[in-house]
Formats: sequence, C-alpha cells, structure tokens
Amino acid sequence: MENIFYMEHPLIQHKISMLRDKRTGTNEFRKLVEEIAVLMGYEAFRDLPVEAVEVQTPLETCKTPVISGKKLAVVPILRAGLGMVNGILTLVPSAKVGHIGLCRNHETHEPEEYYCKLPSPIEERTIAVLDPMLATGGSAVSAVNFIKEHGGKHIKFLCIIAAPEGIERFHHAHPDVQLYCGCLDRCLNEEAYICPGLGDAGDRIFGTK
Ligand code: PRP
Ligand code: URA
Repeated sequence: MENIFYMEHPLIQHKISMLRDKRTGTNEFRKLVEEIAVLMGYEAFRDLPVEAVEVQTPLETCKTPVISGKKLAVVPILRAGLGMVNGILTLVPSAKVGHIGLCRNHETHEPEEYYCKLPSPIEERTIAVLDPMLATGGSAVSAVNFIKEHGGKHIKFLCIIAAPEGIERFHHAHPDVQLYCGCLDRCLNEEAYICPGLGDAGDRIFGTK
C-alpha cells in the first residue's frame, strides 16, 4: 500500500524486542520508546526539502544544504505518544508541540476525546503525529480528523507497533497520510490489544496500572 513504510533497521527491531519483554521496567521502557522515536524520526524525515545556503567555513565560502520550507509540528496522542516527543525534539529542537488527548472506552474500544490543542497556524507545517500503538486505528483516525479539521495538510503518523486491522482502517480513512510503522504484529485480541504487542503502552511508560 502506498504511503505506508515499515522500519527494517536492526536497531529499531532490537529495541522493539526489548520493549515487548514484560521484564522491561518503566525507566528502561521510557528510554527505549524515546530512542526508537529518534530512529523512526530519522527515517520519516528523509524527504524533508532542503535548499542551498551560503556558509563561510574557516577556509572558504560554500553552498551547503539546510532544511527549507515547512516548519515541523509534533503532535503526540496522550498519554502514550508523549513518550516519543523528546526523541523527535532531539532531531528537530525548534518544532512546536500540540497535544491530542484520547482515551479508549473499555467497552466499545472507540476513542473519547478529553483535550486538544494544536500550534497555530498549522496549515503550513509538516505535522508528525506520535502514538506507539496503532490497534483498531480509532485513535489515530480521530487524531488526524481533528488535525485536518483545523487545517493540517502535510501529516505523517509514527507508530512503533501496529495491528493489521489498524493499518487497514487508518489507510482507508487517510490514504494521503504517510504512515511509519516500527513493526506489524499479528492481530488484535478480544479486548482490542495488539498480539504479541507489548501490553498497555501508556501504563508501561508512566508506571500506572
Ligand atoms: C492506547 C494507545 C493508542 C490507542 C490505540 O491509548 O496509546 O492511543 O490506545 O488503540 P486504537 O488504535 O484501538 O485506538 P489508550 O486509549 O489506552 O490511552 P493511554 O495512552 O492514556 O493509556
Ligand atoms: N493500546 C495499547 O497500549 N496497547 C495495545 O495493545 C492496544 C492499545
């Protein structure tokens, strides 16, 4: 499918395996999520446009590329997406940060919105939406709906683990959005958790239960 990119880098795969391990504690889990976000950001931003500027080195003047055009906005889906923010800011420290608060209803598994705030104006920015888990796809679709309703156009979605059901639903709703996925897992269980997955990402990042 067009606009879907799976991360094959061994460092990303290795770190995802460590995330899955139920013995990985909060501190290490948090660090791994941030490190994976750096590596995925490196892949996801390889198409950012550049332009040549003139720079005076100690030896001579040269024309050399810098990132041009649209500025970046980072939008984590709360809570778990917060774990990826610092990784992306390591790469693009000047990015603005928005927040979309969504929580899945335990019975319907559909997201309920509790907070949304985006940097303004959003229209001209490249927007990286962050959430480690793409399960049914409900949260991802709602978040991108919200961003588009507020004028966002150039959107990338970064998830660490996805279920086939989530990929399908997201791509069907937003075929124009570039989806970067760390690993495609087997399926969802009856409670809409990703299998084999890593459990509840928010609880593992924040040490809640
Ligand atoms: C998790 C996860 C995603 C969502 C994915 O969040 O971080 O946002 O579920 O599931 P979906 O694709 O079926 O919508 P959750 O609602 O558990 O909230 P939390 O991050 O605050 O724990
Ligand atoms: N949210 C999570 O944190 N984990 C899953 O497996 C599914 C949704």
